Amino acid sequence: MEHPIEVDYLVVGAGVAGLRAAVELAGHGSVLVVTKESLGESNTHYAQGGIAVAMEGEQDVALHLEDTINAGDGLVYRPAAEVLVTEGPQRVEELISWGAHFDEENGHLLRTREGAHSLPRILHASGDATGAEISRSLVAFARAHQRIRFAEWTMVTSLVVAEGRVAAADLASARSDGTGPAPSRIRARAVLLASGGAGQVYSDTTNPAVATGDGLALALQAGAELADMEFYQFHPTALSLPGVPRFLLSEALRGEGAWLRNDCGERFMERLHPLRELAPRDVVARAIAREGMDPAGQPGATRPVYLDMRHASGVNLSERFPGISAFLAQHGLSLSCDLIPVRPAAHYLMGGIRTDLHGRTTLRGLYAAGEAACTGVHGANRLASNSLLEGLVFGARAAQAILADALPLGVAEPLPFQPQPLTAGEEAFVEEQIARLQAAMWAYAGLLREESTLRQGLVVQAACDAALVGLTGQGKSSRRLLEGQALSRVAFVILQAALARTESRGAHFRNDYPQRDDANFGKHSIASSGGQVRFERW
Ligand code: SIN
Repeated sequence: MEHPIEVDYLVVGAGVAGLRAAVELAGHGSVLVVTKESLGESNTHYAQGGIAVAMEGEQDVALHLEDTINAGDGLVYRPAAEVLVTEGPQRVEELISWGAHFDEENGHLLRTREGAHSLPRILHASGDATGAEISRSLVAFARAHQRIRFAEWTMVTSLVVAEGRVAAADLASARSDGTGPAPSRIRARAVLLASGGAGQVYSDTTNPAVATGDGLALALQAGAELADMEFYQFHPTALSLPGVPRFLLSEALRGEGAWLRNDCGERFMERLHPLRELAPRDVVARAIAREGMDPAGQPGATRPVYLDMRHASGVNLSERFPGISAFLAQHGLSLSCDLIPVRPAAHYLMGGIRTDLHGRTTLRGLYAAGEAACTGVHGANRLASNSLLEGLVFGARAAQAILADALPLGVAEPLPFQPQPLTAGEEAFVEEQIARLQAAMWAYAGLLREESTLRQGLVVQAACDAALVGLTGQGKSSRRLLEGQALSRVAFVILQAALARTESRGAHFRNDYPQRDDANFGKHSIASSGGQVRFERW
């Protein structure tokens, strides 16, 4: 089926933020939700631990605010965090009324705890499948709405800016064999980027293959600003087995009592932080990275670090964590009998497309919400399980802003030319460039960085970028070429922002500037497409 040539509202991404926004918008006009694969394949779907929410009144909300601010290491934009924690309960109740089921006992919602939470406030579903349940319920609710259409296996190749605003977007098939509707241009009143994060910029990531930072790159290319891009959260505990993807081992395991041990059997978090395994995520991730270094201090997890749940006699582990248990069983491991080898992996982007508290970017007609956006709500380190809540709250707010702004339909010229496909050899060349970039980002811009490594990262990024631009310059296009270019643009901004922030804070740790410097850097970084970075106090 061909894509429409105009729609009131174009939503890019079908995770929690995009779907929540689509439902709101559909009451007022036609909505097209574009998603790169089939509905449900999003970062949202893979979220395990849960959704943090304070449903027990004012005091509970105040504590959630305090925990969010403390985890963010001096950089949380307080008004954004206030919005998150105060509007969160209403959004979660609404989601339950739309059909989401969270785990209960005797009619009471069960709550777990994760790092840096002062009490158990995290709702979960089917044990460790919270994201899948939220995705399932929102997809079903949105599908029932007549004014929402879905364009699966479709990607936005560029945003069209005309008369000082985003007026349209170019769509193309996201199928690797290029089948599907021909490339087309769609005009809209507003475009919402809810396209998630960019974990694929790193070779080690918990994120699915679709998380290639497409929305960030589109926004940047169209002229919008990005913020806080140096803050990439590394999840402390991804499974570390040779040849096996970095499968997430939820922080809820530590919330339910799991310990971390080094290769001498020492429970090393006891000597590093009063909250031990439940210290803020950035602290635990760096501790694991350091324990995993070889004795000569070279980075790289050459010494194993383990998650140990063998002592947890009061919890039925295969019932509480069915997805994790099943995955481990496929690899001959069991939570109750084995030490599980772990290491950190890129997990969540605190930075993103700069928005106000209503999803408005710095470009008229363009809005962003969820992981793709940066409101400053997470500061330098996101509090565990705040991201699904962020998607619900700020997805709804972005839709409300779009409706309030009531822009007319954008005006745009027809699509000028049809690109040519790549040959098999060219596709293989693109894959090589992506793999080089991912490995360089992990080695040079990972958990522990410094000026020299970041500059090495920039050299590799520039070479990859030039190689990919060479192909687009010949009028060629494919999904992987576009993804590679998006990753390269995102990597460039991460490297530039990480170079500019000559301090250590939250997820950004500079070996050459190990202290936090509030006087100079208690501010948010703002980057534009040229790579210039400036700092602003919000
Ligand atoms: C987890 O289950 O550990 C992930 C939760 C999150 O990233 O918020």
